[in-house]
Amino acid sequence: MLRSSLLAASRSATLRRFVEHNPLAAAVVARFVAGTEPTDALGVAGELAGQGLTVSLDRLGESVTDTGEVRETVTAYRELLAALADTGLAGNVEISVKLSALGLCLPGRPRQEHGGIADGERIALDAARQICRAAPSAGTTVTVDMEDHTTVDATLRTLRELRADFPWVGGVLQAYLRRTETDCAELATAGSRVRLCKGAYREPDSVAFGRKTDVDLSYIRCLKTLMSSKAYPMIATHDPRLIAIAEALAVEHGRAPSEYEFQMLHGVRPEEHRRLAESGHTVRVYVPYGRDWYPYFMRRLAERPANVGFFLRSLVTRS
Ligand code: FDA
Repeated sequence: MLRSSLLAASRSATLRRFVEHNPLAAAVVARFVAGTEPTDALGVAGELAGQGLTVSLDRLGESVTDTGEVRETVTAYRELLAALADTGLAGNVEISVKLSALGLCLPGRPRQEHGGIADGERIALDAARQICRAAPSAGTTVTVDMEDHTTVDATLRTLRELRADFPWVGGVLQAYLRRTETDCAELATAGSRVRLCKGAYREPDSVAFGRKTDVDLSYIRCLKTLMSSKAYPMIATHDPRLIAIAEALAVEHGRAPSEYEFQMLHGVRPEEHRRLAESGHTVRVYVPYGRDWYPYFMRRLAERPANVGFFLRSLVTRS
């Protein structure tokens, strides 16, 4: 109930204005978001790399409403990639992109002359291609995040298109979706980089499992599919039970630590990032940065009721 309300609030313009303009929110936001500027993100990435961790940098922003914003996003990512190459961090740091930040949800019906593809999807594919072209010269890779269920078909189609030219592009699957086991079987091909997460959006029962147990069981089924395949599983969870199951499956399938990785969010269970890294695992921390932090931040609050109490107290307490 609370999760659902917070996810609904992540789309409220009024609440967004209130939270964004409340200086007391900044300290809580800073736990999850590296800062507003690329230099903030690179600073955090450098610190994490120094601790033996790898990183995925995400420029916050989603559901853009015009092509000017798409161009701005592409330029920002290209500049980030160039800066990564300059700092020498590219070996440890990749980038994550959201297709809705590249125009996926822009209006426009599918057109025959574009192979039946809607305008937004075509614009997002073109923009993602520009980013993917810049990544190898910076020495790194790209993963395409997954958003709400209405975008899954278009995102998987775009991933397929991108992989024709850039086979190293990573994709994301959300275990809470009823369709994901089937998608997972299709994506579990040799070398396919697949981030498996539980899913962070507000979804109807018709498409997503509502009970935590069902989501976890779906996660385990997908994990088994990935671990027993020749894909490269990117196990994105903070859930201790799922982490232990992933470790056991890696042993069962004789996977070396270089043949899969754990992924976690910046600010969530940092002691676990270090524990796994110290025990020889590859651990990638997802580090978001940018001014458009509100929806991302609200999804983080929704994941853990304790975060909400802490956040509300910080809004009303001046210390
Ligand atoms: P779960 O929510 O059950 O949490 C397990 C434990 O982790 C909790 O008991 C708590 O201790 C801790 N924890 C989890 N979230 C916390 C938080 N916000 N604050 C404090 N503690 C917390 N989703 C999506 O839909 N599309 C995507 O592309 C991605 N990408 C992505 C990348 C990476 C690297 C990660 C780690 C996650 C995502 N996600 C995502 C988010 C994902 O779907 C999911 O919402 C969160 O990871 C929380 O789920 P857990 O698997 O951690 O389990």
